Amino acid sequence: MIQDLEKLKKQALDDFAQYIGPMKVRTMKSAGLDIVEEKRDGASVWDITGKKYIDCQTGSGIMNVGRHNPEIIAALKKALDTYDIGVFLLCSRQSADLAKKLSEITPGDLKCTIFGAGGGEANDAAIKIARGFTMKTEIIYTQNAYHGHTGFALSAIGREAYRAPFEPLMPGFKMVPFDNAQAIRDTITDDTAAVILEPIQGEGGINIPGDDYLKEVRSICNEHEVLLILDEIQTGFARTGKMFASEHWGVVPDIMTVAKSLGGGIYPISATIFTEEIMDFFIPHPFIHLSTFGGSDLGCLVGLATIEYIQKHDLAENAVKLGRRFSQGFDSFLKDYPELLLEVRQKGLMIGLQYTNQSIGPRMSKKLAERGVIAIYTGNDPSICRLMPPLVITPEEVDLVLNALGDSMQELSKESGIGKND
Ligand SMILES: Cc1ncc(COP(=O)(O)O)c(C=O)c1O
Repeated sequence: MIQDLEKLKKQALDDFAQYIGPMKVRTMKSAGLDIVEEKRDGASVWDITGKKYIDCQTGSGIMNVGRHNPEIIAALKKALDTYDIGVFLLCSRQSADLAKKLSEITPGDLKCTIFGAGGGEANDAAIKIARGFTMKTEIIYTQNAYHGHTGFALSAIGREAYRAPFEPLMPGFKMVPFDNAQAIRDTITDDTAAVILEPIQGEGGINIPGDDYLKEVRSICNEHEVLLILDEIQTGFARTGKMFASEHWGVVPDIMTVAKSLGGGIYPISATIFTEEIMDFFIPHPFIHLSTFGGSDLGCLVGLATIEYIQKHDLAENAVKLGRRFSQGFDSFLKDYPELLLEVRQKGLMIGLQYTNQSIGPRMSKKLAERGVIAIYTGNDPSICRLMPPLVITPEEVDLVLNALGDSMQELSKESGIGKND
């Protein structure tokens, strides 16, 4: 039986390598993460062979409500009794309901929404709206930013490796260091349309800015009449202990983008949410930005069920409480393994473990996978491990992850050749 399942897994990996691409399979194998997901439930996922893992990766934050959440599935099943995707050119009650809900839960005067199916698409829309509304062209983005791989979003990615093969990208994009408001001030010109930022950089390595940064950026944008776009695609929907991370600093953007967890891990949907003033741009151009699958009736009903779930179960509070439980464990690792762990950057359940060098990320991922935990180093820097478990993770599961981390670090520290000079 086990042998049959191993065969099935090998076949899936071979087919993936052959028909999708070999490099992902090779990379995942070398990090011990050649997992082929089968059953999913809460914070857990089972490989096709039956091995159980706690998922601390969650597609970088798609699964805030947990894997295969039964309440979200019930909402989708109910929706399927009557609806399909819907016709995007017509007006839909479901999308109006979700847009209204988003205006209620987002901070300040964010009110109107354009839907999409993915995060890159949401950022493309945000940048288009900024250019269209201001009639200016320049977009300021930050080093190590990640906004997706579509056209405008890719032009705002702050990592050379993603951009280089596709140059020249969109003109008018200017990169500045993250967490440096003065650099934004120095870069703004009369032709600047917007600044785009993640409130906390996710893919860039869980980079949490200083307490004044977002507030200063907001006031610089106000001073120069430049729009502020906040990408809450990874940080949104209670991940950091507030519904949206920008609320930690009391900053309201002109445009906010959300995706990932809005779909409850079940149905793709994204949203670009902006102020009523910006809506003026669409009055003469109601059909200027369209998406066949964006804001589908099914996606919107799933989005509504997901927001209801997050509020009903107070997942923001869960992120705070369980984040605290994690951080107690991290404190002891920082003391016990200074040769491995340099720093922990954390807001709620958005966590970055900064290892002392780049060889440790892949080695820790492998050791954690052996112990039943999926935790992957970031694409930008293998010396950083990102932990983004579902917000429904239980205290017992947090302890299992901490035990796996402790055991892995203990093993690694005993192995020769590990340390700051490795
Ligand atoms: C902050 C941020 N913005 C945008 C995106 C792109 O989203 P998608 O992959 O749905 O296009 C991501 C994806 O990881 C992200 O983390």
